[in-house]
Amino acid sequence: MQTETVTKPSPAAILQMGTGFWASKVLLTAVEFELFTQLEKHPNQTVKDIKSNLDLKCTDRNTYDFLDCLSALGFLNREGLLETSRYSNTIDTGIFLDKAKPSYIGGILEMQNEQGWNVWAKLDQGLKTGLIQHDVKNNGETIFDFISNNPEMFKKFVDGMTGVQMGNFIALAQQFDFSNYKTLVDAGGSAGVLSVMVAKNNPHMNCTTFDLPALKSMATETIQKFKMADHVKVMNGDFFKDGLPKADIVTMGNVLHDWDEETKIKLMKIAYDALPKGGVFIAIEHVIDNERKENVFGLMMSLNMLIETGDGFNYTFDDFSKWAKKAGFSSTELMPLAGPASAAIAYK
Ligand SMILES: C[S@@+](CC[C@H](N)C(=O)[O-])C[C@H]1O[C@@H](n2cnc3c(N)ncnc32)[C@H](O)[C@@H]1O
Repeated sequence: MQTETVTKPSPAAILQMGTGFWASKVLLTAVEFELFTQLEKHPNQTVKDIKSNLDLKCTDRNTYDFLDCLSALGFLNREGLLETSRYSNTIDTGIFLDKAKPSYIGGILEMQNEQGWNVWAKLDQGLKTGLIQHDVKNNGETIFDFISNNPEMFKKFVDGMTGVQMGNFIALAQQFDFSNYKTLVDAGGSAGVLSVMVAKNNPHMNCTTFDLPALKSMATETIQKFKMADHVKVMNGDFFKDGLPKADIVTMGNVLHDWDEETKIKLMKIAYDALPKGGVFIAIEHVIDNERKENVFGLMMSLNMLIETGDGFNYTFDDFSKWAKKAGFSSTELMPLAGPASAAIAYK
């Protein structure tokens, strides 16, 4: 006899998602308080220790709720209960959310708490108007001008972007076969991490990290930190005005998604012009699956580009291949990287 599974309607998923921003805000607040950094320095803290270290004026009960939420969400370990509780970091929060470690990825979360949060609150306005919802909207600056004119936000933004892309840069450096190529230009290379990772994993490669002048000191710092000055150099310029230096490979990490379709194709053409025959263009992005059904992060990143830039959006591999053909490339392929990101590759 066949049994039929009947799925009963349930509001649980709707409610969980609808209040999902509560969970997000609990984590972002803990990052803002530098709770994970403090717990890494002094593990096994009681609620009294934490209240005093973070200067919290709420009740002990409020603090238990906050810390137990973090523990139930999987971001803290707890021993004991209420008065006997002692809290410590999990392995992940100890590695990735301790500000004292180079593996810290909290920059992107600090940015989300300060800015992303407010910009996403205006998603409805973004959709109604099709316009950027970021603070730059009233003074005619691009988001890059706005951020580079604000030094404190600038470092967080660059560190945040690097944190998001680090796993992808390492995956590309290790997975892509660089043996037939000698030079690489990373356009919009920010702090220079992609160039450094490629050269570190492929010692025959010479890389140039290319970005606006504001990025020079951070890129130079990365190169010095990894002792890669013999293989990676910094070049400043505006790729729209100056084009790109010649290289066997041109990469762009999260650059195409900042712009409208016409500008995306223009940038791919600029990359094409910098390459020899047989050269390669690689975009490292959250490429959406062709059916637009699975890569939820890629789809949300695309909405993020609407509210952060006005014109930008993420795209599928089919979109990329169509634009690559228009720019003159002869073939394309897709290489999955870490998590929801991929390398969209076009050959000249
Ligand atoms: C979203 S960030 C991506 C950074 C990095 N590639 C990554 O994957 O994390 C875009 C980068 O493009 C750079 N950029 C924007 N306009 C540029 C221009 N006209 N010329 C050169 N770089 C530019 C920005 O300064 C920024 O570093």
